[in-house]
Amino acid sequence: MDFKQNINKNKLPKHIAIIMDGNGRWARQRGEERIFGHENGVRAVRETVEAAGELGVSYLTFYAFSTENWCRPQKEIDTLMELLVKAIHNETPELIEKGVRLATIGDVESLPEKCRKELADAIEKTSHNTKLTVTVALSYSSHWEILNAVKDIAQQVKEGKINPEDIDKKMFQSFLQTQGMPDPDLLIRTSGELRISNFLLWQIAYSELYFTPVLWPDFGKKHFYQAILDYQRRERRFGKT
Ligand code: FPP
Repeated sequence: MDFKQNINKNKLPKHIAIIMDGNGRWARQRGEERIFGHENGVRAVRETVEAAGELGVSYLTFYAFSTENWCRPQKEIDTLMELLVKAIHNETPELIEKGVRLATIGDVESLPEKCRKELADAIEKTSHNTKLTVTVALSYSSHWEILNAVKDIAQQVKEGKINPEDIDKKMFQSFLQTQGMPDPDLLIRTSGELRISNFLLWQIAYSELYFTPVLWPDFGKKHFYQAILDYQRRERRFGKT
């Protein structure tokens, strides 16, 4: 079946968020170290970005490193960071060529300096691109994001810049990391886990959720198309009748 052919281009999700999961299990199944799974996960990221660009999806957001991931063994953290630096460095020319803008959400300040520099460089170089925005969530968790928004608003109230009565949904959103981005229409999680794991909790209030047993390093264009087709079969009501 040609999955791509069956996608309705007029009903594309504008923003797709992805919880990439299963790298460790994929590696273990092959008798390898967890990092081998992450290395192969980069290929899946590249393929997904390519598929999204070809279809005309406007926003793609990847959960690459959570606040909680800092508790993993230091060796895995270090290698993951190196992998990230390498991937961004290698992919930036193609991102530029394909009209992809790179962005990050999360506590980027907590990342190693080399990582921050590579990211800042790629973000700068791709800042004028408009076709597709790829956002990488790094040292991110929704609890961290929401708490920070609350602290920032409280500070502004204290300074008399905001009147508490004026705090509404629109204002609150403008204090989130995702300000200016539409909420995800579709959230995909791989590896069969049925959890959200502290990802975009505010933003996915009305997102369609799609879970697949495929482990992230095996995820490819075909799986991405399947998720979009599943999304297009659903009726979205946003709480209305
Ligand atoms: C989840 O698998 C995967 C991660 C926490 C890391 C994902 C990172 C990459 C693929 C690296 C590059 C990313 C970009 C955007 C270039 P897991 O380790 O939790 O797997 P498990 O649940 O099987 O243990």
